[in-house]
Amino acid sequence: MPSIADTTVEMVQLVFPEHAGAPGQIHGGRMMEWITEAGTMAAGRVARGPVVLGAMDDIDFLAPVRVGEIAILRAQVEAIGSSSLEVGVRVWAENVGTGRRTVTQGSHLVFVSVSEDVKPWPIQARIAPATADEGRLFEEAQRRRAERLRRFAQRRTSEAAGPTDGDDDVRWRFESVRSVLPDDALFGNVMFPGKMLKEIDEAGGILSMRYCEGFVMTACLDAMDFYAPTRTHEVLIFKAALNFSYYRDRHLDDVLIRASQLSFRPERQRLYQRAQAMLADELPWVPVYLRLQWALARPEVRGLRLVKRLKAALSTN
Ligand SMILES: CC(C)(COP(=O)(O)OP(=O)(O)OC[C@H]1O[C@@H](n2cnc3c(N)ncnc32)[C@H](O)[C@@H]1OP(=O)(O)O)[C@@H](O)C(=O)NCCC(=O)NCCS
Repeated sequence: MPSIADTTVEMVQLVFPEHAGAPGQIHGGRMMEWITEAGTMAAGRVARGPVVLGAMDDIDFLAPVRVGEIAILRAQVEAIGSSSLEVGVRVWAENVGTGRRTVTQGSHLVFVSVSEDVKPWPIQARIAPATADEGRLFEEAQRRRAERLRRFAQRRTSEAAGPTDGDDDVRWRFESVRSVLPDDALFGNVMFPGKMLKEIDEAGGILSMRYCEGFVMTACLDAMDFYAPTRTHEVLIFKAALNFSYYRDRHLDDVLIRASQLSFRPERQRLYQRAQAMLADELPWVPVYLRLQWALARPEVRGLRLVKRLKAALSTN
């Protein structure tokens, strides 16, 4: 039976200016896209078929990957359920000149093996931890799974009850709309999650930049669950609202982003009409729910609590 190490996929990317967000360093959304690509390769190989992203845990961006550096993403399957796979992805930035590697983040994702009609599909493959370290990874994956399922059940209930955050009166908002095109899909007509994460990050980033009138970088991202597939020919609406910040020209912005989807297909006309009303905030928010935090990319933020926490975490890796 294969071990966890046997499932490892390593993705190596040279970081070009086209991958940058804030000048000279990688765009957070691009990194999330790469993380889901590496995770999809590891999960899909083990499942031997299409997989979709069911959930992603919190991500802290501990250190940037700079233009000209090499990003190394290592993904491995750490546990397998009936149809789901727990995948860990670790990212390093490698300085080409010195060869030094810095851990920039670690994340855990759940992929679900699906049939052509995007229904959970049993996975035949099994893995067995081969070392004590792998045994620990396996146990942690089981613990995360239990926590995630609890969170998932709670969110489902609260989402069904409609918005509860009381952010209707927020002044700083951003909204963008885009259609899901065939090249957004990898398996069948389901949107590849990395593409959506990139757009989500961009919506929050644009709002934060407008608010603080300066460059921003994504600092961390709360866990999120994907309830329903987004398909080609649907329209995605991204809404971002600034729901918390310290002083206007410094510190952190905590941005609430919600995305909703609708379809132009005739049978979903009612949904489309409700989406028209969304500008008045009447459409229940559906598939994606998360909070993002952005830290301003300015020198005066360096002493802040969150940045300190991130640096401390970095030094322990
Ligand atoms: C993932 C998806 C197929 C699951 O369908 P479902 O009918 O809710 O599936 P079930 O409740 O039967 O669960 C199936 C498995 O997925 C796991 N799962 C589903 N959602 C999960 C979540 N948010 N977190 C953790 N595990 C999850 C379940 O634990 C179960 O695992 P197991 O078979 O190993 O025990 C469905 O929610 C979906 O299509 N989501 C959108 C996926 C997507 O399009 N992602 C990209 C967005 S751009």
